[in-house]
Amino acid sequence: MPKQGFSTKAIHAGNIEFSPGSMITPLYQSVAYPYSDAKEAAAIFTGEKPGYTYGRWDNPTVDLFERRMAALEGTDGAIATSSGMAAIFLLSHHWLSPGDEVVSSNRVYGGTFGLFETGLKKMGTKVNWVTKPEDINAWKAAITPKTKFLFVETPSNPALFIADIPALAKLAKSKKLPLVVDNTICTPALQQPIALGADVTVHSTTKYVCGNGTSLGGIICGPKSLIDGIRQSCIRYLGPSMAPFNAWLNLLGLETLSLRMEKHCSNAMAVATFLEKHPRVKHVNYPGLKANPFHKMIKAQMKGCSSLLSFEIEGNYKDATKFIDSLKIITHATHLGTCRSIVTHPASTTHSAMGEKEMKKAGISPSMIRFSIGIEDEKDLLDDLAQAFKVAGKSGKRKK
Ligand SMILES: Cc1ncc(COP(=O)(O)O)c(C=O)c1O
Repeated sequence: MPKQGFSTKAIHAGNIEFSPGSMITPLYQSVAYPYSDAKEAAAIFTGEKPGYTYGRWDNPTVDLFERRMAALEGTDGAIATSSGMAAIFLLSHHWLSPGDEVVSSNRVYGGTFGLFETGLKKMGTKVNWVTKPEDINAWKAAITPKTKFLFVETPSNPALFIADIPALAKLAKSKKLPLVVDNTICTPALQQPIALGADVTVHSTTKYVCGNGTSLGGIICGPKSLIDGIRQSCIRYLGPSMAPFNAWLNLLGLETLSLRMEKHCSNAMAVATFLEKHPRVKHVNYPGLKANPFHKMIKAQMKGCSSLLSFEIEGNYKDATKFIDSLKIITHATHLGTCRSIVTHPASTTHSAMGEKEMKKAGISPSMIRFSIGIEDEKDLLDDLAQAFKVAGKSGKRKK
């Protein structure tokens, strides 16, 4: 069989024969799978015979989603989880023992920051934050003999930091450490970290993979030994596995992922260009813009810049929220990666738990506004922005 392209794999990869056959993956909304006899039950449990045992760690619909994601990311295994945070926690729990350390960029989603700072500390482990993640020497300096893995989110939410994945992979290899990339924002349709030298990818499938905001989910894509290890231990004994219905919705999401990502990218570029020229905008973070400090890097590792972008509105916290409240089509919510465009105020919501000091270090200010640009008509989005700037007025001169 000739090598298939991404869009073909997104619809066909990893197919399992279901009986009776069905064009759409059947939804196995079941926790257990009856055995034909005791001999078969024992053989499935020891792994001598392929089969499913119990919903906390396996399910046919979830299995197909895992196979398809592994095919798209280029790994030989994947394990789907109940959320993106569960994926990051399970991976950390699997690899870390008390006393161990993680080296991570500080440009990460607020929940990841919170997990590393609280949950991991409770496990007796520690994170060494790299506060200048664009500098490979800063990563080098943060690694100690106790480091067990390197973690990077690229592009990062919401500051849009772009890591040099090949350079980080080279460093990780030289130190015999795995490099984990949170690939939520680009998805494998736009960025393939494994092909660039990373060892593992994690995702919040809640975002672009699902695509419409219906279901929470996550996935870890990596070597079979890692995936088997997590399936045999953490997920088996804890149960933060993906619900079959969510896996089913995610499989539908994958079928249109590459098409959606194209439209997300072109709409986001139009919005970023509009904002860059607007007199009330101080600064736009979008790597697709030529003036962006990461622009030159993107060609080597990304097919597109996805649709997350952030900008600084002239003024303060109040000016930012007034603008947000004036938008009509773009929905105010703490989410991203959906077909509908979403606006978020990170300082008061997703990243508020970080505290002002850490937010500042991570490049998040009170006047920062984050957009996840959807797949609506470009003109309608630009019109919505223009009217919101008008209604919100000039900074400090707002009408009540
Ligand atoms: C980059 C990134 N990683 C992980 C997560 C956590 O995902 P979830 O909300 O599915 O737990 C998020 C959530 O916004 C995210 O943006």
